[in-house]
Amino acid sequence: MADVIQLRNVSKTFGEVRALHDVNFEVHSNEIVGLLGDNGAGKSTLTKIITGYHQPDPGGELHWKGERIDHLSVQKARDLGIEVVYQERALADKQSLWRNIFLGREMSNKWGVLDIAGMKSETRKLMQTVMGFTSSAITADSMVRTFSGGERQGVAITRALYFEAELVLLDEPTMGLSLTETKKCLDFVNEIKNTGKSAIFIDHNIFHVYPVADRIVVLDRGTIAGQFMKNELTLQELIDRLYLVAQTGSLAEKGEVR
Ligand SMILES: Nc1ncnc2c1ncn2[C@@H]1O[C@H](COP(=O)(O)OP(=O)(O)OP(=O)(O)O)[C@@H](O)[C@H]1O
Ligand SMILES: [Mg+2]
Repeated sequence: MADVIQLRNVSKTFGEVRALHDVNFEVHSNEIVGLLGDNGAGKSTLTKIITGYHQPDPGGELHWKGERIDHLSVQKARDLGIEVVYQERALADKQSLWRNIFLGREMSNKWGVLDIAGMKSETRKLMQTVMGFTSSAITADSMVRTFSGGERQGVAITRALYFEAELVLLDEPTMGLSLTETKKCLDFVNEIKNTGKSAIFIDHNIFHVYPVADRIVVLDRGTIAGQFMKNELTLQELIDRLYLVAQTGSLAEKGEVR
């Protein structure tokens, strides 16, 4: 299957800290990759390189649909169709709901003037059809700062759906969500799969990752400890392997080559 994104020999150091070391990683077309690893393993750093927020150390390469990208900026990543969903920081707190939906992709009329009425009316439609906001206190003009965790995340998800992202990065999207909100989030990942798009899903809860992922990649202290197709392992086997990684830094059982 074709790759949507490919990272070759990507390292990232922050002063003394080596967050990623020589990572080779790819996401195939229409694939959901579950990314697992302990605190500080480098998961968020990897996603920030893919969103153009961090640049890899010299020598590392990024390829988008087979083409090398020299300098991936946040705007360029967005233009390619890379969207991020995470609960914190994803939204512009001091801006209204409609502005958050259209941030960086504003609609304008034929004279090049911002089409504010159009964006607000689209937002109202999305609130009913996609976000499922029930609180009558929320309007297109509401400030995002006052939204609950689940509501904020609903906005980020809606943005990804509305603009038909090619690759959606979900970095611990279920953190702090209620049971219903978590289910909505996992449904959204399934929706990405059904619409033919791809995603990287990071979550500390493997009970969330396992059901929605096609492939699972385990990061350990900045390197890829191993990976496997979901249908190769049962959930219990996965749990056992993760304990093994914690102890030995490798996913493979003794004598096994991966
Ligand atoms: N901007 C930064 N400056 C300095 N060090 C950083 C920076 N970002 C990440 N690090 C360090 O890089 C390492 C990897 O961090 P990262 O946030 O990628 O881990 P993670 O796998 O996302 O962990 P968690 O599961 O806790 O979110 C950590 O040791 C972290 O302290
Ligand atoms: Mg993280």
